[in-house]
Amino acid sequence: LVYPLFLLEDKNAVQPISSMPGISRFGLEKLIVEVDECMNAGVTNFILFPAVEEKYKDKYATYSLDASNFYLMAIRELKKRFPEAVFISDVAMDPYSSDGHDGLVIDGQIVNDETLPILSAMALAQAEAGFDIIGPSDMMDGRVGEIRDALDENGFTNVGIMSYTAKYASAFYGPFREALDSAPKSGDKKTYQMDPANGDEAIREVGLDISEGADLVMVKPGMPYLDIVYRIKEAFGYPTYAYQVSGEYAMMKAATQNGWLDHDAVMMESLLGFKRAGADGILTYFALEAARLLKR
Ligand code: PBG
Repeated sequence: LVYPLFLLEDKNAVQPISSMPGISRFGLEKLIVEVDECMNAGVTNFILFPAVEEKYKDKYATYSLDASNFYLMAIRELKKRFPEAVFISDVAMDPYSSDGHDGLVIDGQIVNDETLPILSAMALAQAEAGFDIIGPSDMMDGRVGEIRDALDENGFTNVGIMSYTAKYASAFYGPFREALDSAPKSGDKKTYQMDPANGDEAIREVGLDISEGADLVMVKPGMPYLDIVYRIKEAFGYPTYAYQVSGEYAMMKAATQNGWLDHDAVMMESLLGFKRAGADGILTYFALEAARLLKR
């Protein structure tokens, strides 16, 4: 289980996310308490997303490269306090971009190749700050190879890459975009995220990502795409992760809060489905609750 966490600049802040009951955005001090609870419950893997204030955003996501930004300062502190935990980063421009897109926008187009140097610089800054695994969620073509080269050339051969390999242009990301205030200012993400009707492209993307140096490949969203998880695991036998995204979590929380479904039962059944489909790891907002239940 990998637990996604949302990080705020204000160290003592806690901001609940209305469409994700039980999930909050945390400042570093509160996040440390949350991570500590997770470690006690047996959750040791985390993926961190920054909720960046509007004043830091610009066209080139410059703030993402600032070694003293709150995201990179936080990982230094977290690695010091929890050396045995695994921290996965997020590489994409959207949290830092005034356009709200994962890539650079020029004349209304998201430009793939011009985005790559920005992404690899972002990944390098994250490796320097102490992340164990780099997580490119941007879906630009060729970014895994570019990031691998940048890491290797700078001595970070031991830092891994978890690639969002088959990331679909999905309507299930809504609550996440609310959490990060990162929705696109114009247009949509369909020019770089995958078409939900297309299964074969996922298989091609896996081949590319593995050849470019991905250590883990990932499918996202999860439940509506378990056929993709199954096909990838069958075809490549490679470490395959799946992301049960914010909208999937929100659906189950809403129904269980209304008393329409049994919370613990649907949570565990949904996670079992991932395992049955062949997932080696699951990114889920249920990580802490599920681990506690398993422990009991
Ligand atoms: C964007 C990113 C998104 C998520 C993770 N990284 C949203 C998007 O592509 O717009 C979604 C995760 C979730 O919904 O839980 N780089």
